[in-house]
Order: sequence, then C-alpha cells, then structure tokens
Amino acid sequence: MPRIVAVETLDGLAADDPAAMRSRRDLRRLHRAMGTRSIVSRALKDMTASRRTAAPLRVLELGAGDGRLMLGVARALAPAWPQVELTLLDRQTLIERATIARYGELGWSAVVKVVDVFDWAADATDARLRGRATAHWDLIVANLFLHHFEGAQLTALLTAIAANADQFFVCEPRRAWLALAGSHLVGAIGANAVTREDAVLSVRAGFCRNELTALWPTQGVEWQLQEYSAGLFSHCFRARRLAANG
Ligand SMILES: C[S@@+](CC[C@H](N)C(=O)[O-])C[C@H]1O[C@@H](n2cnc3c(N)ncnc32)[C@H](O)[C@@H]1O
Repeated sequence: MPRIVAVETLDGLAADDPAAMRSRRDLRRLHRAMGTRSIVSRALKDMTASRRTAAPLRVLELGAGDGRLMLGVARALAPAWPQVELTLLDRQTLIERATIARYGELGWSAVVKVVDVFDWAADATDARLRGRATAHWDLIVANLFLHHFEGAQLTALLTAIAANADQFFVCEPRRAWLALAGSHLVGAIGANAVTREDAVLSVRAGFCRNELTALWPTQGVEWQLQEYSAGLFSHCFRARRLAANG
C-alpha cells in the first residue's frame, strides 16, 4: 500500500469546535480499542530499565494533544519510575488544568508548550549553531503524530529529535490492510464524521516495515534502532543513542 499523507480534518478545526472536541473524545476511545496505553507503557518501561541515575527523567512529548494518553501511561509507570519532568508540546491549546494537576498527583511535573513543532525544531537547531544552551531530553515521545508529515518535513523533524534526545519512541498507525479495514469501522464505536474520515487518512499515512529506520539520521552517532508492529493496528519505532562515532 503506498504511503499517502493528506491533511486531516481535525487539524483544520479550532480547538473549541464541537466536532473537534467530540473527535478528541473519540480518539481516547480509539486508543483504548487499539491498546495504545499498554503499548507505550511497555516500550517506555523497557527503554528506561537500565537507567542508573536518580536525576529526574526529562521527557518531551511532541503532538501531545489533550495530554490524556500520556497521563494513562504516567499512571502505569509512576510506581516504578523516578521523578519525571514532562513537557507536553502541541500547536493547539488542548490540555486542561485538571490534567496537569493529575500529573502532579503522580509526582510528575508537567508543563505545556504551545508551539508548532517546526518552530521548536528550528529554535533548537539555531541555539546549537549559536552555541546557546538548549534543552536536551532523556526521552522524546510521539503518538499518532509523525504520520502527519512526509518528505523534507519528516526528515527535518527526525533530525531535530535525534540531535536533542538520548532516546526516542513513537507509536503510529500501521499502514496495513487489517488496520485499513479497522479504520473503516470506527463508526461502530460511535465515532463522529471527523474521526471516521481521519482514521482512514491516518492509516494511509501510517508506517510499515523499516520505513522510520531508513529515515533515521545517524549524524556521527551510533544508535540502537528497533522498528516493530504492536497490537493489531500500531507501528512502533525506538531509537537509543549509544555513542558518538569518532
Ligand atoms: C492525532 S492527534 C494525537 C494526539 C495525542 N498524541 C494522542 O495520541 O492522543 C495529533 C496532534 O498533533 C498536533 N499537531 C499536528 N501538527 C502539529 C505541528 N506542526 N506542531 C505541533 N503539533 C501538531 C495536533 O494539534 C494534534 O493534537
């Protein structure tokens, strides 16, 4: 199935548009159906298992949406994880104060950054070129986000992520016939027209095989990479910085 990236309806709607609000609720239900929380929790637990420092874990989520998926992950991980300083980045203001408070109850400090991801990438690159201090992340995470991009944009984004993080994890739609069939059936869980349309577009723009591995920039650094199918509908990619070459 060729990869086709198209603008999703939700991306063109204002944050407080009733159809958008309903679609974000649908997304939470879809995550439950897809088992996203356990897929992400399992991967992040595994990726940080060998961490030996008591310093807070600095985590950045790109395209965090309403922050609720990551909150579910935080609930699963908080008992075993160290302190976490989490930054939730999205270009829309979607995160409620109550969600931030719930992170606090788990001992995670969460801050919201409302910015376009390409402005974040450009700022980080500019800071490095000028020798200005820039945030370095123990872990960058993204869920249902990378599939919005292709070509030069996707390459630029992966380059910025690789330059600014020790580890990266992403969980995206799997571009496969079963997932495509499933995406045509999301009406069965009561999804609205926006979600029904975007679900199909997301699968067509999703990833498969080793597509993200092939795009990952090494930039003189040795990385451990892993790309795999998860559950029935998801496709995951993990990268861990090992050492600089030369
Ligand atoms: C499909 S939603 C996924 C939200 C969340 N990660 C989840 O899985 O529930 C994609 C999110 O990416 C955000 N987004 C899309 N393009 C973006 C960009 N260029 N910069 C920052 N955020 C963006 C949207 O606002 C939206 O919240």
